[in-house]
Amino acid sequence: MKVIVTKSYEESCRAAANEIITQVQKKPESKLGLATGGTAEQVYPFLVDAYKEGKVDFSRITTVNLDEYIGMDPDSLQSYRSYMACRFFGPAGIDAANTYVPSGRNKAEDEIQLFNEKLYEDKMVDLQLLGVGVSGHIGFNEPGEKLTAGVHIEKLDESTIAANSRFFDSPDDVPKEAITMGIGDIMKAEKIVLIATGENKVPVMKALLTDDEITCKIPATMLKMHRDATIVIDAELAKAAGYQN
Ligand code: F6R
Repeated sequence: MKVIVTKSYEESCRAAANEIITQVQKKPESKLGLATGGTAEQVYPFLVDAYKEGKVDFSRITTVNLDEYIGMDPDSLQSYRSYMACRFFGPAGIDAANTYVPSGRNKAEDEIQLFNEKLYEDKMVDLQLLGVGVSGHIGFNEPGEKLTAGVHIEKLDESTIAANSRFFDSPDDVPKEAITMGIGDIMKAEKIVLIATGENKVPVMKALLTDDEITCKIPATMLKMHRDATIVIDAELAKAAGYQN
C-alpha cells in the first residue's frame, strides 16, 4: 500500500481529489467507484472546483456507488443518491444516466442483479474511493467470522449504527441493513484510494498501517492484498496510529 500523510483533513481531501482528477485526465471515460459518508464529503468540492476551473471534464465518466441503506427512498434527503446528486453529480455536470447508486427500496434480489450489471457491464471500476468505518468496514462490509465477496445485503454493526446516528434524528431511525459491494467487488478495482480522519479511526488505521495481520474482524485490512491501494491520512491520525513513513 502507498500511504500519503498530509498536514490536515482538508489536505487529505485535496490529495484524494487529485488522485481522481489525475485518473480522469488520463482516461476521460473512467469508471469511478464512489463513497458517501462524512469523510468523503469534503473530497467532492475539490472535484467540483476542478471541473468549474476547466481542469477536468467528467462528461464521459461512469460511476457506481458502494452502498445504500435498505428501506431508504432514493428521493429522501438522507439517501446516498441525494448525497451524490447535490455534492457531485449536479455541480460537476454529470448526467444522472451515467451514474448508479443502489436503491434501498427495490426488491433485494432485483437490486443485487442490477448492481452487478452496473459494476461489471462494459468495464471494471478504474478507481474506487473509500472511507472506513469505526468498525473497520469498507463499503458496508462489517467485521465477522467471514466476509462476502459479492454484492449482498449486510446487517450493520452496532458501532456503525451508533456512528451514523449523527445523520439521523435518533439512533432508532438508522436503518439496520444496507446493500453493499462485497469485499471481492471492491478488491477488483484497478486502483483504490481510501481517506480517513479522526480519533475514532485510530484503532482501524493502526490495524491497517502498523500491524501485519489481515483479518475479517477488521475488513479494511484486506486492502493490504490490493496491488494499487493508496491510504490518505492526516499527520494527527498517522501519529495517533503509530504510523511512521
Ligand atoms: C459510505 C461507505 C462507508 C463510509 C464509512 C465512513 O458509502 O461506504 O464505508 O465510508 O462508514 O464513514 P464516515 O466518513 O462518515 O466516518
